Amino acid sequence: MDGRESRYQAFLEKLSRDHLRRDLTEVAARHARILEVGGRPYVNLASNDYLGLRFHEALIERACAWAREFGTGSGASRLVTGNLGMFGAIERKVAALKKQPAALLMASGFQANAGVLKALFDTAVLGAEPLVFSDRLNHASMHFGCQAAGVHQFRYRHLDAGHLAVLLEQHASPDRAAFILTESVFSMDGDVAPIPEIAQLAREHGAILVVDDAHATGILGEGGRGLSDGADLVIGTFSKALGSFGAYVACSETMRDYLVNRCGALIYSTALPPPVLGAIDAALDLLPTLGAERKRVADLSAHFRREAQRLGYDTAGSSTQIVPVVSGSADDALRLSEALREAGFWATAIRPPTVPQGTSRVRCVLTAAHTPQDLDGLLDALSASARRLADAASN
Ligand SMILES: Cc1ncc(COP(=O)(O)O)c(C=O)c1O
Repeated sequence: MDGRESRYQAFLEKLSRDHLRRDLTEVAARHARILEVGGRPYVNLASNDYLGLRFHEALIERACAWAREFGTGSGASRLVTGNLGMFGAIERKVAALKKQPAALLMASGFQANAGVLKALFDTAVLGAEPLVFSDRLNHASMHFGCQAAGVHQFRYRHLDAGHLAVLLEQHASPDRAAFILTESVFSMDGDVAPIPEIAQLAREHGAILVVDDAHATGILGEGGRGLSDGADLVIGTFSKALGSFGAYVACSETMRDYLVNRCGALIYSTALPPPVLGAIDAALDLLPTLGAERKRVADLSAHFRREAQRLGYDTAGSSTQIVPVVSGSADDALRLSEALREAGFWATAIRPPTVPQGTSRVRCVLTAAHTPQDLDGLLDALSASARRLADAASN
């Protein structure tokens, strides 16, 4: 081994010892429901394609049509020559969906959070370091943006608007701009932030509320609008319920103009390519028609949660399509995930640092592609695991 890399090698070896090492598993997916690994099919419980849209004919057709008509790439950043005509039309659809005056498309959800927050917290623009209040379990990309901006975060207890109110009182300062950051649906817990209460606090304290609506857009809220009403600035992605890729910021015209001038992640990155824009555009058109699919996902999720709890599993605060089965240790989560695989279900073990120590879990995601029989099989597999655990504990 090259001696210059020995520290990285030692780091990887420690991850392996702690059951925290990650690997890239090659998969094949030709359907929203089934995933193939090593030639074996599994029911896919690990995808965020909540409505199964990535295989929808309307998205595929528009993606192909726009690739043929406009090419496979946009050729440049949006500020150079990449701002193709369809951006404006899609942004108007997103702004209408989110009931915001304007919207701005960006390359990915991670890039949007990382880049937009860095731009928003610019001390040179604000005159002083802003006060940033964050839910303790916010997504890594939001932390990344805060870190890139070099701001301290006041982290309130998960979903706890009361704690947020205390922190807002304690740290109030007329000279410093204040921001509140939260997800609407939390990606690893499937629980929902009290956005109306948080929005009320933001108004009372003159703070700007930024909501990451990644896991609600398309699947929750009236007509799939998401759960971001009351936010000043909404960040979301087309990579989950909308079945493709890319991200948006929905906000005021002023914020949009500011980001166009100050957000490095937009300015210095190539614009989304036409086929992706085609898929986004078709998904936005479909959303109002997908009420039955949304209801199906909600029903499957409620059934799964109820039955998993009945078997003795902890599903944290989930009330959405994301249902974690919390095992505690990383080792236990890996074992449960492996047991599900043996039974033909692919659900990923989620371990620190993605989730806090002692809360490793198998993240199960229900989608419109699943059948009631899939759920029965999954619950049988969970039941068998619960029995094995009980037997092991009694021996
Ligand atoms: C809450 C949240 N925000 C942002 C992202 C990043 O979105 P994307 O996958 O489009 O980069 C994710 C996805 O992992 C997420 O869960």
